[in-house]
Amino acid sequence: MTQRTLVLLKPDAVRRGLVGQVLSRFEAKGLTIVALEHRTIDGEMADRHYAEHVERDFYPPLRAFATSGPLVALVLEGDEAIEVVRGLNGATDGRKAAPGTIRGDLSLSNRENLVHASDSPESAAREIALWFPALG
Ligand code: CMP
Repeated sequence: MTQRTLVLLKPDAVRRGLVGQVLSRFEAKGLTIVALEHRTIDGEMADRHYAEHVERDFYPPLRAFATSGPLVALVLEGDEAIEVVRGLNGATDGRKAAPGTIRGDLSLSNRENLVHASDSPESAAREIALWFPALG
């Protein structure tokens, strides 16, 4: 089934000059970019995006990181895109993510892990509406 998923190339991806390389992996897989924006978010937007994490111990530094510089937000579309993108991204912790995945190849951190992707159809719908209201 064709799905859409919300992806963030986090501030570490922009700072490290990895935007093109990461986007290339998604495109090479056959996914289509249907929206894309370069943007710097404030703490309020971080709180809305990470609503399910705001009470967690790891959230304050995650909030500081998410707002530390520009990021690239995009929507990818393709067959089973939500699970496919999560597979390409790899496990959350870059130190444990499998080689061959974006995090496994390019990240050595549990927080600065380069990418975010929606984890379910419900979160994809919520996150796409939050970041790209015009896509509805
Ligand atoms: P993301 O997929 O954006 O979803 C939540 C983010 O929180 C996650 O990627 C990591 O960047 C971060 N994160 C999750 N767990 C931890 C943790 N234990 N310590 C630090 N950061 C974390």
